[in-house]
Amino acid sequence: MEALRIENISKAYGIKKNKILALNDISFSLNKGELLAIMGSSGSGKSTLLNILGALDSPDSGKVYLNGKLQKEYHIEPFATKYRSKNIGFIFQSFNLLRDLSVEENVALPLILQGVNSKEVGKKVKEELELVGLERWKKHRPLELSGGQQQRVAIARAKITEPNLLLADEPTGNLDYNTSLEVLNIFKMMREKLNQSIIIVTHDPMVASYADRVLFFYDGQIVDEYENKENNKESIDIILEKFKGVISKHD
Ligand SMILES: Nc1ncnc2c1ncn2[C@@H]1O[C@H](COP(=O)(O)OP(=O)(O)OP(=O)(O)O)[C@@H](O)[C@H]1O
Ligand SMILES: [Mg+2]
Repeated sequence: MEALRIENISKAYGIKKNKILALNDISFSLNKGELLAIMGSSGSGKSTLLNILGALDSPDSGKVYLNGKLQKEYHIEPFATKYRSKNIGFIFQSFNLLRDLSVEENVALPLILQGVNSKEVGKKVKEELELVGLERWKKHRPLELSGGQQQRVAIARAKITEPNLLLADEPTGNLDYNTSLEVLNIFKMMREKLNQSIIIVTHDPMVASYADRVLFFYDGQIVDEYENKENNKESIDIILEKFKGVISKHD
């Protein structure tokens, strides 16, 4: 089943001589439970796309369908806030946790903002923290945790509203190899057991090798694609070669 389809999305920043076409007619679809990776050189439009999908930014043209339904004016307030809270979970490179709140308070926040009653919030928070293996850290502050643990808190927070789509912009960008694996294994489990649809932007072929499919961006366009059957050394090598091919276009 199709979770997301976008058609002919374009976005420019600036005017006249300074105009930059950040996204140039992007179209693709994503199945429910699919893990999609996006790679591409710096400035190729990856974050712009995630921001548009998450209604943090608006496209100049193009259409977004979620579960087959055209999203009209989804990026315009007050619809944008509703759209985000109902459909989207965000995960950032820098975790973006609130440092003065405990782990469990951070995870609870999206549900509290939705007005969910406290009993239900407590139950859901417990479930989510168990899922990412952080139950015993619930009373701690984020800064008392390792980077990998903090990112797992951020994943639990993004997931607690059961979003149609998880958007992760460089989720392992601040993590070393082993803590990246912790985070990737959680994405993998969520895709396999929970049928969660996920888009990950990454520069790391090892990270991309966890995806079912990789899209390669160059200058706001999709210039290459890789269907990934399994994640192993060979797929990492193929992804790296394709990525190098895309990057070298700049020379
Ligand atoms: N708010 C903005 N105002 C003006 N220009 C912007 C804005 N956001 C992005 N851009 C420009 O749009 C282009 C695409 O940027 P984007 O952040 O999407 O790239 P990216 O692929 O995420 O790069 P990176 O890998 O460095 O994160 C770049 O040329 C960037 O300078
Ligand atoms: Mg970016």
